[in-house]
Amino acid sequence: SANQSPAGKPPTATYESAFLKACRREAVPHTPVWFMRQAGRSLPEYRKVREGIPMLESCMRPELVTEITLQPVRRHGVDAAIFFSDIVVPLKAIGIDLDIKPGIGPVVENPIRSRADLARLRDLTPEDVTYVTEAIGLLTRELGGTPLIGFAGAPFTLASYLVEGGPSRNHEHTKALMYGDPQMWADLLDRLAGITAAFLKVQIEAGASAVQLFDSWVGALAPADYRRSVLPASRKVFEAVAGYGVPRIHFGVGTGELLGLMGEAGADVVGVDWRVPLDEAARRVGPGKALQGNLDPAVLFSSREAVETKTREILDAAAGLEGHVFNLGHGVLPSTDPDALTRLVEYVHTQTAR
Ligand code: CP3
Repeated sequence: SANQSPAGKPPTATYESAFLKACRREAVPHTPVWFMRQAGRSLPEYRKVREGIPMLESCMRPELVTEITLQPVRRHGVDAAIFFSDIVVPLKAIGIDLDIKPGIGPVVENPIRSRADLARLRDLTPEDVTYVTEAIGLLTRELGGTPLIGFAGAPFTLASYLVEGGPSRNHEHTKALMYGDPQMWADLLDRLAGITAAFLKVQIEAGASAVQLFDSWVGALAPADYRRSVLPASRKVFEAVAGYGVPRIHFGVGTGELLGLMGEAGADVVGVDWRVPLDEAARRVGPGKALQGNLDPAVLFSSREAVETKTREILDAAAGLEGHVFNLGHGVLPSTDPDALTRLVEYVHTQTAR
């Protein structure tokens, strides 16, 4: 099971951390906190070390990845680190012609549109991403008892970038393929599930203590379409890593109507954005899962009092949950005041100290 102590071994400080306990729905000393995009442009020390180095190149330099991943842990005292990388890194690693353009996001030179294009999506092997294994090795030594979260993009969100050729508001090419050629769509998502599962396995075997599957754009779908056209591929990813016993987190944006199905896909922890209060999210997800969330990242631009009021509401809504990991409802916005994040960690810790 994902939630048992490793047989015959004394539990490590990492295993006993508040973050992993909350994921396992065990009692915690305080509600653990981490932030999606906690490493990144909100931190001056990040902007400094990234200067002149393109995003994808920085993901391939283990010492730089280690430094950037540690920065928010040092500065904010968050309860978990998230591996510094990007959801398109495994696609780049198998030779897809893509880049991350500043201020835009991932751009794919030749989008995947026809059945012949599928052949470009070959399997990922650990040898394709040796820099990931190396970086996680360095990191787990530096992190001590702080858990490291590995991550990957979910098949639907990766497919959206590959089929559209870049970020998209309406996902029209993606949906055209999904509705117009369901067999090719299923084959595409199945290939992406294999690549994603392989990428998560590399991270877990290198020392990641939890994994998060980002299906950031899946909120664009109705539940029936999610169930038919996406859930089988996401389930394949979760099943592929179930045997490691590390918590699996499943996150998307605008997924209020999909929360139950995202839980069914096989996660131990379901991420919730700010549109659904956590007590209502718990009813939708059902028993046996922890929740993660869900402060609107834009709230951090308001006064300290307003941030505390909104945070208190979230902690109250989370009071009856089986397990709660505090997070934002989506990533830290680049112009966020980092001190507001540090204060937020401290506020959640003191408010929930048991
Ligand atoms: O701290 C962390 O959360 C780890 C780092 C991380 C990055 N990308 C680094 C990054 C994580 C977890 C991601 C995942 C990711 N990448 C997602 C899923 C999470 C989400 O936001 O929903 C998605 C959709 C992407 C694709 C992507 N990459 C986008 C939309 C962008 C933003 C474009 C921009 O410049 O605003 C990126 C680029 C990216 N990934 C940056 C970072 C720090 C910014 C580039 C830079 O700093 O130069």
